[in-house]
Amino acid sequence: MVHYQRKYKGSAVLSCFSAALPHRVAGDVVEWVPMAHTRRLVGQSVAARPYILLSCAVSLDGYLDDAGPRRLLLSNAVDLDRVDALRAQCDAILIGANTLRRDNPHLQLRDPARRQARAIRGLPATPLRVTATRSGDLSPHANFFAAAGAAALVYAAHAAADGLRGALGADAIVVDLGAEPAMTAVAADLHARGVQRLLVEGGGRVFTQFLQQGMADELQIAVAPVFVGDTRAPRFVRAGAFPWCPGRRARLLDVAALGDVAVLRYALSDRCAG
Ligand SMILES: NC(=O)c1ccc[n+]([C@@H]2O[C@H](COP(=O)([O-])OP(=O)(O)OC[C@H]3O[C@@H](n4cnc5c(N)ncnc54)[C@H](OP(=O)(O)O)[C@@H]3O)[C@@H](O)[C@H]2O)c1
Repeated sequence: MVHYQRKYKGSAVLSCFSAALPHRVAGDVVEWVPMAHTRRLVGQSVAARPYILLSCAVSLDGYLDDAGPRRLLLSNAVDLDRVDALRAQCDAILIGANTLRRDNPHLQLRDPARRQARAIRGLPATPLRVTATRSGDLSPHANFFAAAGAAALVYAAHAAADGLRGALGADAIVVDLGAEPAMTAVAADLHARGVQRLLVEGGGRVFTQFLQQGMADELQIAVAPVFVGDTRAPRFVRAGAFPWCPGRRARLLDVAALGDVAVLRYALSDRCAG
């Protein structure tokens, strides 16, 4: 199905398009063009990996956190509920080991109704929890490993894998990804395990790899009305080359105001239907 839409650039909010379409900008008019006229944004085959959705909250100056000892909460309650709904729609949630160590998240669904709805569909109450580590520096006492009834999945560098198996026991399945683990291998292995929809929740080093390797179909980014202003703090991404750049802009699908937080939604591949 092909939709055409026209919106004026001056609109305060570009939202709720019936289809996610690429566009040309002519003067003040954003002209939506059919999908068939576009090229695939990402060169690699996407058939052998899950649909990958990146989600995070950033400050107005693009930081994921501050540099202090405690996690900076950027989202508000409404936005946290949106993220809970996103989690409920996914098969797996991936975070980097540094986020696991620093934030100590349990990654459980908060809303009992969402857990119950998944159970009715024959799914685990909470999506599979996934992390990656080279160092193997993961505490078996982290909340990440505390969920009852379901082992977490840990992708590890070869040097760390055996030690982690011993330390984590039945709380985790440890997958040895060799000397230099790559997120492409993580995505392929998750796909082979039946994960069709993967939510990547950061942090910055993890986002950087998925984005720079063109392994992202959608980005949802909540912008909080605060500045961090400290270069010691982690940014959304690290420096490097990204497929979306001034010559190849990402497609904005939606902007939503959730209280004082703005949620931007971008299509990063033509797998993202909008
Ligand atoms: N605002 C938000 O929405 C949000 C979301 C998530 C995180 N955060 C913040 O982001 C910060 C953490 O971000 P970060 O960039 O420092 O770290 P990160 O991306 O969370 O984790 C990086 C770590 O993940 C492991 N890793 C990454 N790529 C790997 C690969 N290819 N193979 C194996 N292991 C790999 C390594 O663990 P080892 O060091 O164990 O080798 C690496 O040091 C925290 O402050 C957190 O609060 C904010």
